[in-house]
Amino acid sequence: MKKIIAVDGPAGAGKSTVSKICASRLGYTYIDTGAMYRAVALKVLQSGETLDENLISDIGIKLDETGKIFLDGADVTKEIRTPEVSRGASDVAKFGFVRKKLTELQRDMAKRGKVIMDGRDIGTQVLPNADLKIFLTATVDERARRRFEELKTKNFAADFDQIKKDIALRDKQDSEREIAPLAQASDAILLDSTNLSIEQVVEKILELAR
Ligand code: DC
Repeated sequence: MKKIIAVDGPAGAGKSTVSKICASRLGYTYIDTGAMYRAVALKVLQSGETLDENLISDIGIKLDETGKIFLDGADVTKEIRTPEVSRGASDVAKFGFVRKKLTELQRDMAKRGKVIMDGRDIGTQVLPNADLKIFLTATVDERARRRFEELKTKNFAADFDQIKKDIALRDKQDSEREIAPLAQASDAILLDSTNLSIEQVVEKILELAR
């Protein structure tokens, strides 16, 4: 059984949904690295301060087993999912000192093994020696449709065209940034989820993990 699984891909490809299910079936820990970038963005928005090394040097980011995210001790699970924080996360993710800090925390979390970690640079930068690397994609239309449904069920105001624009912009920013851009590792397996159900993607990953 592969002990360390890295799942990368663009926004809304289904990484967190399928990684969570795979982790629970394998008895692994799921680590959502996007939530960590979101927590940094929320900290900047809430504090009104400029993002610098000082602001994040002793940042407290905790992910618990139930999927809750804590920022400096406060439960921010819901707050980090707004479109404003999504944009902010993609912005803060450009900075080398932010990536360095979060990469250290992520490597530390993966040390124990039996983890499935999702993000943009897990297979390429954070865990280059992962036992299994998946690059999960879907068309931008399909990803926008999924995000629209997700926001609706969480009772956030949602506008499909705006979501599609936001996703396309985040794709561009995440793939074109200089440091650790979104990219498929040369040894990652490409999975296009456009026409697959959640269960079909989960089954494929579990098959590869065995
Ligand atoms: O997966 P997500 O949508 O929650 O991620 C939010 C943003 O964080 C995403 O636009 C880019 C950034 N991110 C990153 O740069 N590296 C990661 N490993 C995870 C997320």
